[in-house]
Amino acid sequence: LAKIEVEMGAIPEGKNLIVKWRGKPVFIRHRTPDEIDEANQVDVKSLRDPEKDDDRVQRPEWLVMLGVCTHLGCVPIGEAGDYGGWFCPCHGSHYDISGRIRRGPAPLNLEVPEYSFNDDEEKIVI
Ligand code: FES
Repeated sequence: LAKIEVEMGAIPEGKNLIVKWRGKPVFIRHRTPDEIDEANQVDVKSLRDPEKDDDRVQRPEWLVMLGVCTHLGCVPIGEAGDYGGWFCPCHGSHYDISGRIRRGPAPLNLEVPEYSFNDDEEKIVI
């Protein structure tokens, strides 16, 4: 199946990039140290879909996930919502800086696809 490669150098710290993969948007965020801290400070037990940030990333500074709201499939907006992450305007789901659902009707965190790093070429391969 088709893979896509994204140059890590093209995404500065604190920025998002959206790429298309198999017809779906994939969100890639180059997280800042503060964002990583924030993601780790959340009490996992309080979450609707309890997942540690560590279990959602391979490298803390790179968050890669499908840009498909787990409610009814709209595309959430980045750098929006009340939890520092993404906001789905269709019915008001708020996701945090780890892509975890925090408020609104969505049942699950934004899905993390399979991906890998190609360090020689400084690329993320999805
Ligand atoms: Fe995102 Fe309903 S599709 S909140």
